Amino acid sequence: MAERAANALQWCGIRPGTRALPEERATPAEAEHFVAMQKATEALMRHYEAIESLQMRDMFATDPQRFDRFSLELGDLLFDYSKNRIIDETITLLCELAEAADLKEWRRLMFRGDKINNTEQRAVLHTALRNRSGIPVRVDGKDVMPEVNTEIARMAAFAVSIRNGERRGFTGKRISDVVNIGIGGSDLGPKMVCEALEPFIQPGLRLHFLSNVDGVAAEQVLQELDPETTLFIVASKTFTTQETMTNARTAREWFLSQSGDEAFIASHFVAVSTNSEAVSAFGIDTDNMFVFWDWVGGRFSLWSAIGLPIMIAIGEEGFSELLDGAHAMDCHFMEAPLERNMPVILALLGIWYHNYFGAESHAVLPYDQALRSLPAYLQQLDMESNGKSVDRDGRPVLTTTSPILWGATGINGQHAFYQLLHQGSRLVPADFIATAETHSSLKHHHDIMMSNFFSQTEALMRGRTLGETREAIEDAGDSPDEAGHRVSHMIFEGNRPTNTLLLRKMNPFNLGMLVALYEHKIFVQGVIWNLNSFDQWGGELGKQLAKSILDELNAGSAVVGHDSSTNGLINTYKRLR
Ligand code: F6P
Repeated sequence: MAERAANALQWCGIRPGTRALPEERATPAEAEHFVAMQKATEALMRHYEAIESLQMRDMFATDPQRFDRFSLELGDLLFDYSKNRIIDETITLLCELAEAADLKEWRRLMFRGDKINNTEQRAVLHTALRNRSGIPVRVDGKDVMPEVNTEIARMAAFAVSIRNGERRGFTGKRISDVVNIGIGGSDLGPKMVCEALEPFIQPGLRLHFLSNVDGVAAEQVLQELDPETTLFIVASKTFTTQETMTNARTAREWFLSQSGDEAFIASHFVAVSTNSEAVSAFGIDTDNMFVFWDWVGGRFSLWSAIGLPIMIAIGEEGFSELLDGAHAMDCHFMEAPLERNMPVILALLGIWYHNYFGAESHAVLPYDQALRSLPAYLQQLDMESNGKSVDRDGRPVLTTTSPILWGATGINGQHAFYQLLHQGSRLVPADFIATAETHSSLKHHHDIMMSNFFSQTEALMRGRTLGETREAIEDAGDSPDEAGHRVSHMIFEGNRPTNTLLLRKMNPFNLGMLVALYEHKIFVQGVIWNLNSFDQWGGELGKQLAKSILDELNAGSAVVGHDSSTNGLINTYKRLR
């Protein structure tokens, strides 16, 4: 067994004594895992070599059923993955990889409340926040569902009182503006959802999101506001995040300078956190605090009290539908066989391109103005979860992880970076996302946008051959011979993979499904890469250094304690500011 383990480790690129742990420390279970992963990975490598040159346009030409075979539907969500460089066997082999990685067991452990966030000894239970099954979910033997439901009820009561005008500002006026002060997971989720569900927001209510510690951002938000009608939500899991606390203090000072009495704070400031001591220390009464728990990761927290701005914006019913949608995806993820499981397939296709084709990035391209912040939201969700180079046991990872996720609304991207997607030297797999029904009354705009949505994935898949390019030039009334060397610039090699996610319409339920789909995709990839997807130590070092540099910025003497670049930059800043 030890010998097989050593071989497996060797194969995986780990030289005993140089990288990772020496092979003698591999347990029999680890050895077995390595052997299974080795087998699955080698099979995929052989398969990659066999099909790498296949053209998707030929696959479509020879198989009229390809769309039916490689698409899945869940409620209002259609996931078409037929424009990928796959055949049936690819999916079979990728699912074998997921089996070898013990995905089903990890999935069970996550939903069950085991402490799979092993560096922080925490359960990972964002799924409990939208658990509509009535089945208890236990952490350390205690069912967390009563607390979850109590907090949802508190949020709902508060949201109702703002929405119906029962809870008013210090001069008796209705609250018209809600400012969420938070950053990262305490900002991106609620912001993205409130934008996406804008048509569902109660008329007369305006939502603002203040995250950047740049004073300009605070000034921009505050200058739009009337203290008499503004509610501030200070959202921070830890309630220690420097940017958030700075913005919160600025908002508090601004409010006091206008209202003139500390007693009015209670009607205008609430907190969302796991840290009640820090909330009290800040001066917010814990009666005005909404809680969540350490088993909710920041980037997975929009379903918790962090979703308070969402609940105020779209109401209890809307928020409940958002949770229902996510729960529907949770059930699908738990129950559907791997080869018909949306998050699993989405994740495995990502692995296929990243680890086998060497794709370094992944684009998210919503053709929907409502989803304009989805790429930024997914950047945190994906890259903070899986941007790791040690595995869950602290060993160097065996392969590259987490491609760089990026994107923008597709239609704008077409006039900016799509050149690279179509003709660049890198393979960039992409998710195209759109809704069939628009909330806009300008229906003809939607068809124009959607015609582009469909044409882009077709063009990326088909490309345009030399012959077709010459024909196109002729059709345009030019002579290909006169076009000369231009012809080669107009060829599209095609065979560029895309996923298409088409929602019937944007509503809370469908958005809930979509977000949960990506959450589980990231989980699956983390399992295959053997990562702890639920910690984020990578953000810490810069934060610590910033603290000591802040002191140095305020000291009179020249800074000398860093490298010459950092010293030089700090001292120049001090001179210039
Ligand atoms: O620095 C990264 C991070 O810890 C994120 O993980 C988190 O979402 C964000 O900062 C904000 O943290 P908090 O909600 O504790 O203010």
